[in-house]
Amino acid sequence: MITIGAASHHYMRDTIVVTGGAGFIGSNFILQLMKADTAFVVNLDKLTYAGNLASLAEIAGHPKYHFVRGDIADRNLVSHLLRKHQPRAIVHFAAESHVDRSIHAPGDFIQTNIVGTFALLEEARSYWRELTDGDRSRFRFLHVSTDEVYGSLGPDDPPFTEATSYAPNSPYAASKASSDHLVRAYFHTYGLPAITTNCSNNYGRFQFPEKLIPLMILNALAGKALPVYGDGCNVRDWLYVEDHCEAVAAVLARGRVGETYNIGGRNEKPNLEIVETICDLVDEMVPSSAGRRRLITFVKDRPGHDRRYAMNTNKIKVELGWAPRETFETGIRKTTQWYLDNAAWVRDVTSGAYRQWIETHYSV
Ligand code: NAD
Ligand code: TYD
Repeated sequence: MITIGAASHHYMRDTIVVTGGAGFIGSNFILQLMKADTAFVVNLDKLTYAGNLASLAEIAGHPKYHFVRGDIADRNLVSHLLRKHQPRAIVHFAAESHVDRSIHAPGDFIQTNIVGTFALLEEARSYWRELTDGDRSRFRFLHVSTDEVYGSLGPDDPPFTEATSYAPNSPYAASKASSDHLVRAYFHTYGLPAITTNCSNNYGRFQFPEKLIPLMILNALAGKALPVYGDGCNVRDWLYVEDHCEAVAAVLARGRVGETYNIGGRNEKPNLEIVETICDLVDEMVPSSAGRRRLITFVKDRPGHDRRYAMNTNKIKVELGWAPRETFETGIRKTTQWYLDNAAWVRDVTSGAYRQWIETHYSV
């Protein structure tokens, strides 16, 4: 809680509101930011199935961290929060983020990703307009988006650049594309100092185990089937989450307003290779008489499954000097070890609702 007075003035100018900070990337971002920065962090998160305060346990009582449970679409709440905490930036991670869920139930994606982002933009604009000239030009609205807005690449196509046309194929991608367009429009129409980042598939600690990498680690450990969609040759560009968070911090500090920046891991791999790597790592870390590769099971493909994503990250490298630091070999090793070492976190996040999703989605 911030008190009024001289000391609060410093905080007022150095406060960052993070939305979706209890999710996978947001929690990693807040932990990294609070190590490096003096900023006061306000985390606004609805705590859907994907939000877990356990990920932020180490800073729960930190005097420069404040958690607010709430919906980005709740305009009264957002309005109150912005005026109370006077942030110099909003870093917007909150979203429904799982493609398979968007296929089963797109409504939540429209509501949070589109309507929620619209509400946040409206309240940010209203707050920003009231700032003094200096604060108004320093303010940033950083919108975190995805490479999936660009659609699907063929095997020989060049990677996506910031100039690639949008061609979203899933309800998830369409909802993110829509929010990106709104952010763009708020810059061009109202001058809101917004920047959008589009990143590739992240992996690392605190990722909800519905996503490929943690799902495969935990299933391999439990001796369960490893469901590979289609022929397993879909390609994703895997980015270590800590590298992604550093990129977001660089864009926040030095990115140009009105611009978009692609962030990728320069690490394209077919899904089957990822799953085989995980099997071998789990075999090494928790030996078992039969190798885990035997658990690989090809299942029905995801409808509209994009074949390949790849990012050209030249712009962020040249302008901001950012490049990923982790190699896939070290990143996947650390991540696998983390899931093996953090059974309590996994137990915490895999509620009854999650088990029901797994049953519905993988039942055919
Ligand atoms: P996540 O699903 O792990 O976390 C999302 C968080 O947002 C959760 O804590 C959830 O409680 C919160 N949230 C959801 N709806 C909300 C609402 N209406 N109001 C407030 N909070 C709400 O997602 P993630 O993987 O951490 O992704 C973060 C952002 O990065 C998303 O915008 C996503 O589209 C984008 N992104 C993710 C990846 C990836 O590989 N994970 C890749 C590209 C882009
Ligand atoms: P996912 O982690 O859902 O991310 P996205 O679809 O946003 O890229 O999936 C990554 C890739 O792994 C994607 O090509 C779909 C595939 N996949 C499987 O083969 N099996 C699974 O059980 C899951 C969840 C994903």
